[in-house]
Amino acid sequence: MKEEIAKIGENSKNEINSCKDLKQLSDLKVKYLGKKGELTVVLRGMGSLSPEERPVIGSLVNQVRDELNELFDKKEKELKQEELKKRLETENIDVTEPSKKIELGSLHPITQVIGEVEEIFLGMGYEIADGPEVEKAIYNFDKLNTPPDHPARDVQDTFYITDDIVLRSQTSPVQARVMENQKPPIKIICPGKVYRSDSIDATHSPVFHQIEGLVVDKNISMTDLKGTLEMFAKKCLGEKTKIRFRPHHFPFTEPSAEADVSCFVCGGKGCKVCKGEGWIELLGCGMVHPNVLRNCGIDPEEYSGFAFGFGVERIAMAKFGIEDMRLLFENDVRFLKQF
Ligand code: DAH
Repeated sequence: MKEEIAKIGENSKNEINSCKDLKQLSDLKVKYLGKKGELTVVLRGMGSLSPEERPVIGSLVNQVRDELNELFDKKEKELKQEELKKRLETENIDVTEPSKKIELGSLHPITQVIGEVEEIFLGMGYEIADGPEVEKAIYNFDKLNTPPDHPARDVQDTFYITDDIVLRSQTSPVQARVMENQKPPIKIICPGKVYRSDSIDATHSPVFHQIEGLVVDKNISMTDLKGTLEMFAKKCLGEKTKIRFRPHHFPFTEPSAEADVSCFVCGGKGCKVCKGEGWIELLGCGMVHPNVLRNCGIDPEEYSGFAFGFGVERIAMAKFGIEDMRLLFENDVRFLKQF
């Protein structure tokens, strides 16, 4: 039996030494030391030995097993080192190889228009204000002189979260927030998303963008409003652009007006973009209603102001010749690539 053990020891050592990879090594370990391995089988056969022989053989088997275990560990380390070395040699990186082209994106038309408008108003000394899209009804309506029975408050127009909280249906609530927190002089614009329960078609979307403007100071008059908006229209839509004001009604301004600009595609002759009118409706505006000033802690006897608000999609669509508003929200890269 001693010879048998010695032979197993000898064979296994040779095999381990000439082993070429980790898989082969682990197979070998099973072959010799596994449950049915050659050395294990010898141990199992010890029952047939005499009591004197047993300890002798037992310790011999243990000795061989320890040696083998050590040898397996050593070989495993060696093979791992070799594999790593091979990988490092074969997986070298060619730093001179041309890289994959990274495609540069472009700004969304809406973002572009907002950026342009911001530049124009920053140039006139305005600051950019911000407000929440999930807004208290009190800011979206009450403080803006829009009473509880006003049709704009109807659930058919406005998304209600609770009776008191809405998705803002206009950027005008930012006016109230700014006036409450800031003393005049105030000169702000506020671009942002607004929400209305409209169904989607080529010219409507339940989410769209507006830009709000507010100026409050001593002696602000309608001429300031007209001059400012004329300047804005020329800078945004071209120096030849004309602007006209039509009387209108908004609860938060008195007097109120809507402003149209001469069509910047046909120059006023009439075309597809202006639907033959020569004019394009641009925005709502007016002198801030004394009630609104009062609601926001500003004395209307001392201060006056003007405000305006317009939709960004309409300007982007006219400027870029986009005929369907849905294109702006579909995020189709083939569309977006064009701008
Ligand atoms: N909030 C109005 C709307 O969504 C637009 C507007 C009109 C804003 C007149 C104003 C304003 O600030 O003075 O239709």
